Amino acid sequence: MTDYQRAYKQSLADPAGFWGEAAQLVKWDKAPKVVLDDSNIPLYRWFSDGMLNTCYNALDRHVIDGRADQPAVIHESAITGKSSTLTYAQMLEKTARFAGALRMAGVEKGDRVVIYMPMVPEALIAMLACARLGAIHSVVFGGFAPAELAARIDDAKPKVIVSASCGLEPTRIVEYKPMLDESISLATHKPTRCIIFQREQHQVELGPLDIDWKDAMAMAEPAECVSVAATDPLYILYTSGTTGKPKGIVRDNGGHAVALTWSMKNIYNIDAGDMWWSASDVGWVVGHSYIVYAPLFAGATTIVFEGKPVGTPDAGTFWRVIERYGVKGLFTAPTAIRAIRKEDYNGDFIRSADLSKFENLFLAGERLDPDTYHWATKNLGVPVIDNWWQTETGWPIASNLRGLEPMPIKPGSPTVAIPGYDIRVLDELGNELPAGTEGNIAIKLPLPPGTLPTLWGDDQRYIDSYLTVFPGMYASGDGGYLDEDGYVYIMGRTDDVINVAGHRLSTGSLEAVVATHELVAECAVIGVADAIKGQIPKAFVVLKSGAQIDAEELRKQIVALVRKEVGPVAALNEVVVVPGLPKTRSGKVLRKTMRGIADGKHVDIPSTIEDASILDLLRPLLRSES
Ligand code: COA
Ligand code: AMP
Repeated sequence: MTDYQRAYKQSLADPAGFWGEAAQLVKWDKAPKVVLDDSNIPLYRWFSDGMLNTCYNALDRHVIDGRADQPAVIHESAITGKSSTLTYAQMLEKTARFAGALRMAGVEKGDRVVIYMPMVPEALIAMLACARLGAIHSVVFGGFAPAELAARIDDAKPKVIVSASCGLEPTRIVEYKPMLDESISLATHKPTRCIIFQREQHQVELGPLDIDWKDAMAMAEPAECVSVAATDPLYILYTSGTTGKPKGIVRDNGGHAVALTWSMKNIYNIDAGDMWWSASDVGWVVGHSYIVYAPLFAGATTIVFEGKPVGTPDAGTFWRVIERYGVKGLFTAPTAIRAIRKEDYNGDFIRSADLSKFENLFLAGERLDPDTYHWATKNLGVPVIDNWWQTETGWPIASNLRGLEPMPIKPGSPTVAIPGYDIRVLDELGNELPAGTEGNIAIKLPLPPGTLPTLWGDDQRYIDSYLTVFPGMYASGDGGYLDEDGYVYIMGRTDDVINVAGHRLSTGSLEAVVATHELVAECAVIGVADAIKGQIPKAFVVLKSGAQIDAEELRKQIVALVRKEVGPVAALNEVVVVPGLPKTRSGKVLRKTMRGIADGKHVDIPSTIEDASILDLLRPLLRSES
């Protein structure tokens, strides 16, 4: 048996043995005796009698182990052209002090703290400071609009919100403070305090609830780590579901620390002292896991990057950063590589950089199409590793395990199931499908450590959304197949979730906003193919009878509405007026059929369709690349 086969087999046959051993990578205040707690199935828990502190594992332990002067965080802003470094000792000092500041603002173990920040080291400090106190952070991506932030505030009910004066996009300053103020006024729940980090590019006037980050730090005493149960929540991260109401994915402390520490070596082949760069945003799960927690658990150096892969200033930015810091592993989304390929097809920028320390490019967040895979492999000369996972799982479900046992790469596949994940491909009735046949991808319970134990405050929604469709299984929401060698192929979502530039969005929530336009009678938002972003949302709208409006004017109004209600990240720019939507005779819009056509799949037109000519009209619009 190979190393991978041995590990995989043991992880399924003896999960307690496998993860019990992995748990030794973590420093516990009280080592767990119970590894897998199955006393309340289908809600499994890991390490339920263990006690630890996540911040201790990310910072303190490395300072104690002699890494005080090693860079922990490098901030590289391609927008300001500035960079700065914080060692492990400096990160610990600032984090402990900010934890003291949060405590002065009333935050204790179990309290929630919403973090709405751009890509600055202070975002990591705020997250780790919450972990230090045993408080639960909920980071909200800066590209979301006030209404989305307000929905998260109402669900998480934070005592304190940590934000910044601004974020920086290549062409504009994103003013966070007015958006924060608006979201607080929209929300029913009110925080008691906001701590605002003032950036030099744009300073803001503070209100009665606000404390300046600097003042908060100056007044605070450093706080020590608070020991928490392994099963206590570390964070809540909201992600798009099929309905408009985002799902609060809960991450616990113990399973998360074990799984992420294990993954950093076994999947990403990163050791203490290595240089690691995850070019994502702290607002997404990739940012949580692989900008913040995993590299710090591993004692590596993590690069926090503010900018875009192209245009700030050019398509060579990524390779220059890799050269400057001797990056060993880069993690980003395929869309970033497609954007670079468009600008630098011949790879001139790549060749002009010294990439001698660069070992692997990891891509996730959306399907890695074979063209992008081949281009990156040819031009970079390093393995290009697809890895498939979700906000729910928090770390890869399938990948090529570069530390445990590198395996041959098959373009179009993120390779094999990671130890702990028992992947099955099922038909609609839950029957297992043979190799090569596409179906619903499910994972047999229990999911491994680090994956979601539940949804925030809503066990039932967790059970209903994920654990009921296929009893005993977690329904991933993705479709795909396994080949004869056990390689996994992910072909796309089976629900109304779309992936725009690696950002997960719910078409349901976009439709809810489009439908509020006064002239719109009904609408469907479908993800259509886009050469750079993979998918983009396109709105098909039917106007109210007698409504008169110029098509371009309507498009502008709807785009503005979606930007205001969901945020610029929704990237909804295409709106087409159609005479009707394809429906069943009972009036149900055939969204699944529309989605299938947009995905280029063969779709059987339901016999219950009311008027097939509408679908024929929509067909070219669904397939168009814009
Ligand atoms: N705060 C405020 N606004 C933001 C934002 C943030 N943190 N992030 C993005 N936006 C805005 C952008 O400015 C843009 O606004 P615009 O319509 O006014 O130009 C809009 O949201 C869409 O942003 P984005 O999807 O990033 O598109 P882009 O055209 O600016 O860049 C790529 C395209 C491909 C270069 C970019 O999406 C990218 O680098 N993606 C990498 C993928 C990634 O990080 N995925 C995370 C999971 S791994
Ligand atoms: P998110 O929760 O934002 O990470 O998005 C998760 C979704 O992105 C998954 O359910 C997939 O649809 C898609 N996804 C993530 N990684 C991959 C991948 N490597 N290949 C195909 N799809 C992916």
